[in-house]
Amino acid sequence: MSAFAPPQVLPSVMSADFLRLGEQVDALLAAGARAFHVDVMDAHFVPNLTLGLPVVESILKTTDIPIDCHLMIDDPDRWAPGYAEAGAYNVTVHVEAAHDPINLAKDLRAAGAKAGLAIKPGTNFDDYVEVLKHYDTLLVMSVEPGFGGQKFMAEVLDKARKARELVDTGHLKLLVEIDGGINAETIEQAAEAGVDCFVAGSAVYNAEDPAQAIEALRATATPAFTHARA
Ligand code: DX5
Ligand code: ZN
Repeated sequence: MSAFAPPQVLPSVMSADFLRLGEQVDALLAAGARAFHVDVMDAHFVPNLTLGLPVVESILKTTDIPIDCHLMIDDPDRWAPGYAEAGAYNVTVHVEAAHDPINLAKDLRAAGAKAGLAIKPGTNFDDYVEVLKHYDTLLVMSVEPGFGGQKFMAEVLDKARKARELVDTGHLKLLVEIDGGINAETIEQAAEAGVDCFVAGSAVYNAEDPAQAIEALRATATPAFTHARA
C-alpha cells in the first residue's frame, strides 16, 4: 500500500481547528504530510460528535491526498461505503459496530477503498483473525475511542505484536495502525511492537510547529520500526 508507505505518521484532523481546516490541511501538506486521518463520530457509538460525509467530501475536493477515514459510528454496514464512494483511500470501521464485517470489507473494496478494521482496547484480537483476512488495515485503538488527548494504553501493544507476527508469517496481509496517545514518548514502543502507521492528533496539532512534530515522530519511529522487522 504505497500511499501509506510505512513508517507513516497520520495527522488526525480531529485536533485541528475546524474553522481553519482547509488551511491546516494545506499547511501540513506543504510540510510533507503524506496522508491524513479523519475521525468521524456519531454521538452513538462514541459519546462525541465530530464531522460526517459532507465535510469528508469537501476535504477530498481540495486535495488528492490519501484520507484515512476512521468511522466511530453505529451501523457502518449502512454508512461506510459512502465514504469509500466519496474517494477516501482507506475506510476503517469498528468491529464492535459492524453487523457483517466480511461483507462490509467487500463493499468497501468494491467502492474503491482499502478496508480497515478497528478494535477497541477491550476487544480481543484473536477472535477476529479470520475476519482480518478480508481487510487491508488493522487499527489498534490505544485509547477508548471518542476523544483526543488521552493517555496511551501500552497494554494494547500485545495485539500489535500478534498482528505483526501474522503478517510476517504470511497469515495476514495488512498494515497495522495505532491510534490514541501517540507522541514522542510512546511512538517508539509502538514501532518496536511492529506498528506500520501512527495516528497522531494532539502531538501534532498542539505542537508549536506541527510540521516539525510530524518529522520528529517519524524520525523517532524509524529505527524501532526497522528493528521490529530485522
Ligand atoms: C480518538 C481518535 C483519535 C484521536 C487521536 O477516538 O480516534 O484519532 O484524534 O488523538 P490523540 O493523538 O490526541 O490521542
Ligand atoms: Zn482515529
